[in-house]
Amino acid sequence: MVRATVEDLTDREVHGRRVFVRVDLNVPLGEDGRIADAGRIVAVLPTLEHLRRRGARLVLASHLGRPDGAPDPAYSLRPVAEDLERRLEQSVTFIEGGVEGERTREAVSALEDGGVALLENVRFAPGETKNDPTFARALADLGDHYVSDAFGAAHRAHASTVGAAEVVKQRGGRAVAGLLMARELHFLDEALRSPEPPFVAVMGGAKISGKIEVVDAILGQVDRLLVGGAMANTFFRALGLEVGRSLVEEDRVDFARDLLERAGEKIVLPVDCVVGYEIVRDTETRTRRRDEIGPNDRVGDVGPETLRMFTEEVHAAGTVVWNGPMGVFEVPPFDRGTREVALALAHATDAGTVSIVGGGDSAAAAEAAGVADRITHISTGGGASLELLAGKRLPGVEVLEPKAEGER
Ligand code: 3PG
Repeated sequence: MVRATVEDLTDREVHGRRVFVRVDLNVPLGEDGRIADAGRIVAVLPTLEHLRRRGARLVLASHLGRPDGAPDPAYSLRPVAEDLERRLEQSVTFIEGGVEGERTREAVSALEDGGVALLENVRFAPGETKNDPTFARALADLGDHYVSDAFGAAHRAHASTVGAAEVVKQRGGRAVAGLLMARELHFLDEALRSPEPPFVAVMGGAKISGKIEVVDAILGQVDRLLVGGAMANTFFRALGLEVGRSLVEEDRVDFARDLLERAGEKIVLPVDCVVGYEIVRDTETRTRRRDEIGPNDRVGDVGPETLRMFTEEVHAAGTVVWNGPMGVFEVPPFDRGTREVALALAHATDAGTVSIVGGGDSAAAAEAAGVADRITHISTGGGASLELLAGKRLPGVEVLEPKAEGER
């Protein structure tokens, strides 16, 4: 179902009104406490600019990390507030001291048209992850309308992602998607319901277990499912092949065998691999055919022949969705497969393929390969994009108003 967006709010609804915007500014912080990747901050700027231009007073809320329902300086959003201030080129009021506090109400009342405030980490309150009704009401008190641009947190039914939106709606306010949320839903949901054929999925990563539902759901839709990463080892075992000292999920071998039986030609497994004795930086490696893996080998990446096959499939695709690295890409030389898949997606996109990258590691790999801006869409949500690909409904999306007939 297509959701109403900030573009569907009328000027009367927006101008001079307080808009509560749930964003996902859960960015990685380095050991020095600095933001290591500001991608999620950059991604919400269009929504914030849109609302500011129209004279809204913005109250932003986000979580950062997983603090235990109590204030913890290691998870403060202060560095994010400072970064946001630089990017928006305007002051951002950082509101500490609890959502229900007097200072919070005062700071929100003091906002001018186009002004921006950011609440301290909502997970500092115990009511957030419990979707506690009192905490949800306190959040809803801060906005006349509710906007969600927090795709990355939309699989969580928390007070700021669901409860507050419900209260705002009960009080007659609107609850709509931000521009990032709308884009994520367009590519990860709507576009994949009617993909341009052939539809190719590339799945990787260490484990099948976290992706069983996605693999199951996507197998019914795709023309080809290319499998890489340590996940492929479990399929090798299902074929009765030796995998040496490689990572295998023994308890998923039957599932993998069943998938192979059901999928026939659809599943494309690596035909060769890059192995080492240990998966450590700059170690000596060998390329082995998949039926030549020795008892002392560890598989660390897909091999060159596999990359040739995968690249061909990606180039031929009308739509391609990619989730999960092809090898241990953070440990060179086992990063080649993942980099080459990222490049293949970029080349295919240049030639007209719609390419969609799930969040997390594959997004980081596209970034590291320097091709992020050549991919049609890179999701900002890891867990959320997987749930959507698995065909699940996300509570933080379900709570938003459907687009009405005649709305843009
Ligand atoms: C994410 O990083 O995937 C989102 O921000 C959700 O975070 P969570 O898994 O801690 O809920």
